Amino acid sequence: MKGLVLSGGSGTRLRPFTHTSPKQLVPVANKPVLFYVLDSLREAGITDVGIVVGDTAAEIEKAVGDGSRFGLEVTYLQQEKPLGLAHAVLLAREFLGDSDFVMYLGDNFIVDGIRPLVEEFGRNRPDAQILLTRVSDPSSFGVAELDDDGRVVRLVEKPEFPKSDLAVVGVYLFTSVVHDAVRAIRPSARGELEITDAVQHLVDQGSTVHSTLVSGYWKDTGNVPDMLEVNRQVLEGIETSVDGDVDDASEIVGRVSIAEGARVRRSRIVGPTVIGPRAVVEDTYIGPFTSVAEDCRITGSEIEFSIVLADASIDGVHRIQASLIGRKAEVAAAGEAPKSHRLVLGDHSSVRIRIQ
Ligand code: TTP
Repeated sequence: MKGLVLSGGSGTRLRPFTHTSPKQLVPVANKPVLFYVLDSLREAGITDVGIVVGDTAAEIEKAVGDGSRFGLEVTYLQQEKPLGLAHAVLLAREFLGDSDFVMYLGDNFIVDGIRPLVEEFGRNRPDAQILLTRVSDPSSFGVAELDDDGRVVRLVEKPEFPKSDLAVVGVYLFTSVVHDAVRAIRPSARGELEITDAVQHLVDQGSTVHSTLVSGYWKDTGNVPDMLEVNRQVLEGIETSVDGDVDDASEIVGRVSIAEGARVRRSRIVGPTVIGPRAVVEDTYIGPFTSVAEDCRITGSEIEFSIVLADASIDGVHRIQASLIGRKAEVAAAGEAPKSHRLVLGDHSSVRIRIQ
């Protein structure tokens, strides 16, 4: 069985981060989302993996390399434009050959991994198997209708009037029959070759399409609130480890991971929280569900339920919440007079300012 990981796309919902870096490399608990995907393929026994890349190919290749540090053999497959998930299958035809494969969207997150799912597929070997989860707002997802045996009878992309609350999760298992399906379908109204249309085509042709309800936690990290929520969920599972240098005037509460080379002075850190290598934290409160990446500098500030990317600095700001702060970004208190906000914001940035 092979793996096909989709790491192209435009990432418009995660701008401005995606102007400078692929969304699949935004870290959750200081580890890029894509790395969790690659680890979970390895855990499921899949080592031959194709990664579909787009405009951000260079960054993805730099981060993942030949895949050996994940225990994988990685082949990069260039997609000229994000023409849809089924288009990615189309262009991977030669790499996939006639193998069964798992298609995994590189920005999706399944806490419990995919091993049981891969095993179930191996046992029953339907033509295709999709993963579903119950959601409260099905109209923003691909939605499945099942028969009494759990077989898929219909898939609709973002339906106005959903017939079920079963959303399609970004992990699919296919046999080689899917190649005929992706060749048979036409682009949708938004100009993409939709994987839901390909799966519907399989159903219409009489192929067996099974579904499994995802047992654990699943999220698509395509936007900032979901990113923060996945970060919260992953931090729930961390263990305490203090390898950095923490002075006696600081207080560490709950499960906190402080990497080697980090320095904490006169601060209070309440877990679950991770502090990356060489980060400096002084006279600061860091609250629960916060990930601070390597080389950050946080002084005289308060921050919680946030992700701070590498090399960012925060100085004298109370209190930052539910925020995603980019690499090398600077957040600092303004002088006393005049009482004004001074902003240098990149394209598509967004700021919420507390009115006094
Ligand atoms: P999406 O999140 O559906 O699309 P997107 O990346 O274009 O994001 P946005 O809607 O914010 O503009 O893509 C799911 C995953 O599949 C993601 O990891 C990107 C990847 N992808 C491809 O590799 N090729 C494609 O043609 C598309 C549409 C997505």
